[in-house]
Formats: sequence, structure tokens, C-alpha cells
Amino acid sequence: MDGPVTHAVADFRSDTVTRPTPAMRKAMAEAEVDDDVLGHDPTTLALEMEGARLTGKEAALFVPSGVMANLVAVTTHTRPAEEVILEEWAHTSRFESGGIGSLAHVLTRTLRSNRGLMYADEIARWISPGNEHTPRTGLVCVEQTHNFHGGAVVPLDGLRKIRDVCHARGVPVHMDGARMWNAVAATGISGADYAACADTVSFCLSKGLCAPVGSLLCGPAEFLARARFARKRLGGGMRQSGILAAAGLVALRDMRERLTEDHVRARRIADRLASLGGFAVDLAAVQTNIVFVRLEKLDPARVVEAAAKDGILLYATGPQQIRFVTHHDVDDDDVARLLAFLEKQALGSRP
Ligand SMILES: Cc1ncc(COP(=O)(O)O)c(C=O)c1O
Repeated sequence: MDGPVTHAVADFRSDTVTRPTPAMRKAMAEAEVDDDVLGHDPTTLALEMEGARLTGKEAALFVPSGVMANLVAVTTHTRPAEEVILEEWAHTSRFESGGIGSLAHVLTRTLRSNRGLMYADEIARWISPGNEHTPRTGLVCVEQTHNFHGGAVVPLDGLRKIRDVCHARGVPVHMDGARMWNAVAATGISGADYAACADTVSFCLSKGLCAPVGSLLCGPAEFLARARFARKRLGGGMRQSGILAAAGLVALRDMRERLTEDHVRARRIADRLASLGGFAVDLAAVQTNIVFVRLEKLDPARVVEAAAKDGILLYATGPQQIRFVTHHDVDDDDVARLLAFLEKQALGSRP
């Protein structure tokens, strides 16, 4: 008899934990493949064409991860010892194992922002043509949605201002759009409109879109021909990658629109926690599938440990902070379980 499905584990650590759907597994099993390093894998080529179409760019390149997409982009846009301007909590500078410095050989200048949107006039002040003493600014990176600003959508008009300031000074823009489709789902603005704010844009097929592996880097065809070289050099050239690309095609076809369901659940978590006391939430930042919560009395490490005993997986992102992420593999029952657990914790912390 079919009854309600109760997940043994409710996993709110990240949307990276999503598993491929049955439709993806079927597509993977049936994928037509060839050698993609030689440029002949038909399923990978189809995925790249679809990524380019959806972002309004000339071409796209399939890479194994979001980290590699950013690294290939930075390496291809810049030369060693140039400077890259990024937001102070940008994933590319803070959470990609230092690859931007150690592998792309560039310096980073990080700037403050309003919920992930850097100030265009501040970027303009820091852009440098370079001289004998000072590195040239080779690239500006923006992030959409902004992970460590609570999944906030970075507004289109602000991104356009940044692009215009950069282009007026001859500096290209790369968008780390790992969760760009969450921004699209949240606002109704097209992927092509967001992508038009940057010369190149990368997005993940894994995370909320549930493919097991892979990201696309999209941009001008000439740029991507050079990016292929960078990907190969980093060991990211894959042979029968059509097996993975097949899941990516299903991800783009089936999984983008449902992201709004994740956003509704994240909002439910944020609203309830904000009303509980003991949890500080920036409700205005909760626009997509991520909720950052500051614990005013409870110890996050203890909460994570107690939650795990109840089959709820959480991720402490700082000494006083937990991040909750909603995705395809958590449902309304899981959210109810999480909230019941946190209500109990909040009650226990009261004097
Ligand atoms: C904004 C952002 N960019 C890039 C990445 C890198 O993706 P991956 O770790 O899957 O390579 C992440 C991962 O969480 C991310 O949040």
C-alpha cells in the first residue's frame, strides 16, 4: 500500500546532496557517447548547445565541477600576476581551496557589498590599468545567487551597472552562476538576461538541478576554444562524458521550474525560526533555497550533533551560525521534522 514517504534522513546540509532522478538515470544508461576530449561526444555537444542557448551565449563547455568552471574562467580571462576583483564572501576566493591564487596565479581584491551586490563606483575606483608597480585588473567576478549572503538574488540593474563600469575600462566580467537558475526561478528574469551582465557565466547542473556531476561555462566561442585548453591542462577533459551530460540535459529540461518549491520551503523555515526567539535570520536575504541563521544562545556544533541523532543533517557554517538548504530531496514532512526539532532545542535553551 502506498503511504506517505518518510525519509530516513532529512538532509539540509546543502543542495549538493541531491541524487539524480530516475529520468536522469535512464537517460544516462541510454546516452550516446564518443570521446569528448576529441570533441566528438554527441550528448556532451547537445548539452553544451543547450547551455549556450539558455544563456544567450555563443558556446558552452562542460566541466566536472563549479570550482573548475570558475578556475577555467579566471585562468582564461587573465594572465599571471593580474588582479581579480570579487565580493568579500565570493565562493571563488573563499571556498575554492585557494586555486585562484595557486593555479590561476592572480591576486584577489575583495570588496564589500549589499547582500552580494558590490558597489559599481567602488569597483571603478579599484580597477587599475597596471604599471611597473601595480597589477593590472584582469577580471571582475560576480556571484548569482550569492551563497554566503543567504542565497540572495543579486539584482539585475546592479549587475548591469557593474558590467558597464568594467567594460568602459576594458575589463571582462565573469559570473559564478552556480545557482543562477534559482535566481531565474525566484524573479522570472531569464537566464539570458542575467548572463548578458557578464562576458562569461558558469552554472551548476548538480546542486538544485540534481544532476550527479557537472557545470557549464558559457561565453563567446573564441573564449571557449581557449577555455578547452585550460580545462585539459587542469585534468578536466573527460572522455565518454555523454553519460554525465545526459543527466545534465534532463536537469535543464525538468528541474529548473520546480526550484520555486525549494524557495517556498526555505521561506517557511526562515519565517518560523525568526518567530521563535534565539535564532536571528535576515529575512530579506531569504529569496531562494538558502537560510543562514545565527544562534544567539545555542551552540551550533551541539545542535548539529543532536540533530544527527534525530536523523536530521545540518551544517554549521560558523561559530554561531547554521546554514539550512532546501532542495529536491527534502519535502514538507522533512521541513516539519526540522522545525519540530528546532522548536524543542529553542525551548530547552530558555532559562
Ligand atoms: C556560489 C558557488 N560557486 C561555485 C561552487 C562550486 O561548486 P562545486 O563545489 O560543486 O564544484 C559552489 C558550491 O557550493 C557555490 O556555492
